[in-house]
Amino acid sequence: MKKVLFVTSEAHPLIKTGGLADVAGSLPKALAELSQDIRVIIPNYQAITTQDAHYRCTVRVDNRDVNILETQLPESNVPVWLVDCSELYSTPGNPYLDENGEPWENIAERFAVFCRIAVEVAMNRTELDWKADIVHCNDWQSGLVPALLSLEEERPKTVFTIHNLAYQGLFPPATYHALNLPGQLWNPSGLEFHEMLSFIKGGLTYSDRITTVSPTYALEIQTPEFGYGLEGLLSHRQDILSGIINGIDMDDWNPKTDPNLPQGYDASSLDKKLINKTELQKQVGLPVDAEIPVFGLVSRLVQQKSIDLLIEIIPEIITMPIQIIMLGSGDSNLERELNNFARLYPDKISVTIGYNEKLAHLIEAGIDVFLMPSRFEPCGLNQMYSQRYGTIPIVRHTGGLADTVVDAMPETLADNTASGIVFSDAEAGSLQEALKRCLILFKDKKTWSKLQKAGMKKDFSWKNSAKQYLDLYESM
Ligand code: ADP
Ligand code: GLC
Repeated sequence: MKKVLFVTSEAHPLIKTGGLADVAGSLPKALAELSQDIRVIIPNYQAITTQDAHYRCTVRVDNRDVNILETQLPESNVPVWLVDCSELYSTPGNPYLDENGEPWENIAERFAVFCRIAVEVAMNRTELDWKADIVHCNDWQSGLVPALLSLEEERPKTVFTIHNLAYQGLFPPATYHALNLPGQLWNPSGLEFHEMLSFIKGGLTYSDRITTVSPTYALEIQTPEFGYGLEGLLSHRQDILSGIINGIDMDDWNPKTDPNLPQGYDASSLDKKLINKTELQKQVGLPVDAEIPVFGLVSRLVQQKSIDLLIEIIPEIITMPIQIIMLGSGDSNLERELNNFARLYPDKISVTIGYNEKLAHLIEAGIDVFLMPSRFEPCGLNQMYSQRYGTIPIVRHTGGLADTVVDAMPETLADNTASGIVFSDAEAGSLQEALKRCLILFKDKKTWSKLQKAGMKKDFSWKNSAKQYLDLYESM
């Protein structure tokens, strides 16, 4: 049995902005089921409202007293340690943005303190009385942990998982000094990146193993197109770099038992999916129509997700008999453009700006086709949720999308493996072609239901991937 400290900046359902939360809320549970002693550590943001957290101890780092509270991942007995420091985390906003949607001015300090506490816990220098064998870090917010641990004797082994290389935690050199980080880490083969402080380099340089969330993304990040200048470092470390595809929480995302749906269904009662379609159309104010193909999207509205490509083709595709239902938030220009389309075509397009967990589930169940044309996608979860919900994903051939969706081609339809539509180029024309191809398939009810059933049959659970993480821990 390994003692694993899982360091993350978000974990569903305590706090979530994207897929990292889904992973941090479900992978630790899967590892606990494999009899590992796993503990999650996360900042105690104001938005975390759990009632049952209790005080465990106080730790002093960098002239600051920080409390550690303990709760559990809901519906599990995985302990969660909340790093409680009111002057840093008790402010309204999300983990990365203040209440005006601007990045936290003190974001480097927020996560540097968090990392220092994680190191104290991992080294058993707190009253928690628990020493980690493995510290499993996630994304740049935890990147200083492997760096700081590299200076310790008898330290635990470290794993760093890249969920998204596009976010690196880059700060001016003055921040390095303001954070009182050890001088020996400040060099081009350490935390320095083009004379900036790079949190993510702490993970990439100093951890014992690097993983990313799909095998294809593990290869992509070793190329200039996806590597953001870090491809050299990643290729250099390719022997300890691997891709492990994310699983999904099979209880949270189960169309049969999902409490967010007016009507549960599974592969043997697919006709009942229609009740959800009707309810969704009513809820978002589109004409109720059982026959019309409904396309949907639930996403952070950022460049990564190719929302601009969709915007480019809307004037053309809206002449076809389709409806589009979108839910998301992010870039204010993209939000504005999507809202404009919803105003222009109120009978065809519905746009909800904001974050809405319940609606996200109803969209997955109620639509026919999920759009995920991402420029890059380290793993992506919605294409897997879609397949489980009998919703056909249209995805670009990149990262985890390439690894989890099988394109509908004559051969794959013949052997029942086809589960979606995959296209290659990050161009509006290619996306439009994919949509047209999808509409042809939609008309052929028999083939469509074959696609749906193939997706619903696939095993997206954590079973295999959690085992791969365990093998990795054991290999160190
Ligand atoms: P990323 O982590 O890059 O945002 P993923 O596909 O891995 O992409 O995960 C996104 C997660 O966030 C999914 O669970 C998705 O349903 C959820 N999500 C994204 N935007 C919203 C939103 N506006 N409302 C509710 N859930 C959302
Ligand atoms: C990131 C990626 C997404 C991935 C998620 C969870 O936010 O953008 O592709 O699914 O992390 O690993």
